[in-house]
Amino acid sequence: MCGIIGYVGPRNATAVILNGLRRLEYRGYDSAGIAILGDNSIRVTRAVGKLSNLESRLRQAEDGPPPSVGIGHTRWATHGGVTEHNAHPHLNDAGTIAVIQNGIIENFIELKGELQAEGIRFRSETDTEVIPHLVDLYMKAGMPFARAAFAAIARLQGSNAVVMMSAQEPDKLIAARLGNAGGIVIGLNPDETFVASDVPGILDYTRDVIFLEDGEVAIAQAGQVSVYRLDGAPVNKQRHAIAWDPVSAEKGEYRHFMQKEIFEQARAVTDTLRGRVNFETGEVALESLELGTGGAEGIPARIHTVACGTSKHAGLIGKFLIERIARVPVEVDYGSEYRYRDPIIEPGLAVLGITQSGETADTLAAMSLGKARGARVWAIVNAIGSQAERMAEGVIHMRAGPEIGVCSTKTFLTSIVDQYLLACALAQRANAQTVERSNADPFSLARDLAHLPGLIGQTLKPDPIYEALANRFHDRRHFLFLGRGINYPIALEGALKLKEISYIHAEGYPAGEMKHGPIALIDETMPVVCVAVRDGVYEKMISQIEQVKARGGIVIAIATEGDDFIRQKADYVINVPAAPELLTPVLTAIPMQRLAYEMATRLGCDVDQPRNLAKSVTVE
Ligand code: AGP
Repeated sequence: MCGIIGYVGPRNATAVILNGLRRLEYRGYDSAGIAILGDNSIRVTRAVGKLSNLESRLRQAEDGPPPSVGIGHTRWATHGGVTEHNAHPHLNDAGTIAVIQNGIIENFIELKGELQAEGIRFRSETDTEVIPHLVDLYMKAGMPFARAAFAAIARLQGSNAVVMMSAQEPDKLIAARLGNAGGIVIGLNPDETFVASDVPGILDYTRDVIFLEDGEVAIAQAGQVSVYRLDGAPVNKQRHAIAWDPVSAEKGEYRHFMQKEIFEQARAVTDTLRGRVNFETGEVALESLELGTGGAEGIPARIHTVACGTSKHAGLIGKFLIERIARVPVEVDYGSEYRYRDPIIEPGLAVLGITQSGETADTLAAMSLGKARGARVWAIVNAIGSQAERMAEGVIHMRAGPEIGVCSTKTFLTSIVDQYLLACALAQRANAQTVERSNADPFSLARDLAHLPGLIGQTLKPDPIYEALANRFHDRRHFLFLGRGINYPIALEGALKLKEISYIHAEGYPAGEMKHGPIALIDETMPVVCVAVRDGVYEKMISQIEQVKARGGIVIAIATEGDDFIRQKADYVINVPAAPELLTPVLTAIPMQRLAYEMATRLGCDVDQPRNLAKSVTVE
């Protein structure tokens, strides 16, 4: 979770930036760097490891008057290893433009090729380095800094937060937000301006902030900021006063933690991917998944996934992914059932516990049974230092950051992505024969992940349909959710989200099962949410939708953007962007979360702490 801090004003910029980066340290990083303006030139200092390494480098280099403009960054690698060269900020050839970036530039290979054809030499393996070179190219063509920056940002595909400065126009910083993988908050005092990826980075100095939305670019000068859309149209931004109590301060611009956690999912997934995929080759190293000796020893003959609630739904999607991509058979069970059914644990079996908290008693008991009977035990965990992590031989961290809302959201998406990575890594290890058997190329499947944060960002765009649906259906007592194939567990998850925070009864079903019972429930009062994206079972889903309609039911379809056909069949359509089939559940889960959130807030429910529920269930 990279951190960004920028400053323009009368204070010592180095001190402000270092302090801000310290405040963001808890988010994790592997290297850090800072660029400051002095004597009309940019001075960059970078160091691998802790901020204290950067500080001692800066002390050695200290000379001249304190700088009044600068940018700083804590990096957590996505492209390229953990080296000083790859740490941000990155510069153009002449060292006159410095850039820091959070996120993934999906088209960086094309941009890099284009720049290399112009004779530009790259000094790092990062995607970020394309930005200063692009800005430089546009400035050489005669554009002033701001216009060149806008032109360069407009070329980037994906979800990113970018901040840059130029020695030629040393009074300003330019900051942009594209998509949702990285936020940008701008703090203001009468004579100074702060830029940060996260509110805690600037809270020591100001509470008066604005938040950039997707596609907005800010030109920040001391004590003032102007915000534009990428096409240059000015935007009138609302200022927010951040509350002084730490809980409200952490929520930032959001009303609830659940809402914040839904909207930070592009960023959470970016963090899940960091350092685990080589996006040029598609290689996922088993070692990069922190599976320790357990993973390095080889491929399990079969996997038993054990989990509860939302984590179990993630496991069901994982079964689909691991079996399809790596052809390793997977059984998924509730932690609470597994240990009482005398499971068959044979040599070569891996028990995979999935748990956000790492403290769920039923999941821990199931893992411990596996361990006692000689299985290799792995865990997919969010909470660092939890019991599940300590019990497992190998751990894949979700890296979702703290999830405060009782309702799991970002940990659902990140645990699916972890299993996708595991599936690709196992398939790549198994090599050619697996590829033949599964008819799927695990390298190209891993490269698809580069687009995921951008696709999640698109799925999180403002959409009035959620409020419209909540207004129309908040008084219903029952909902049905249907899905099929890899999106069947999304129907289960949609029903769980709705019932746990809005207290509306909801059932999730595999669509093909509807005719074996639930169809009896359908009448003109029953809303039926159908996941019907353009995948291998699309036609089957259309026929289920027709059956619901024939009985007077109300169909809310979650469909692929641009699918006009489904509009003739469903009463309401929620769009998700087109995506490779195996990634669709990561996207279709989001409308389920947003719908449940909107319904629950419309009903006045306490979404962060729903009645009778605990974030971690530590009793049987
Ligand atoms: C999800 O929204 C629930 N709060 C709940 O089902 C949860 O997923 C379950 O209790 C498992 O928790 P864990 O992931 O921490 O093990």
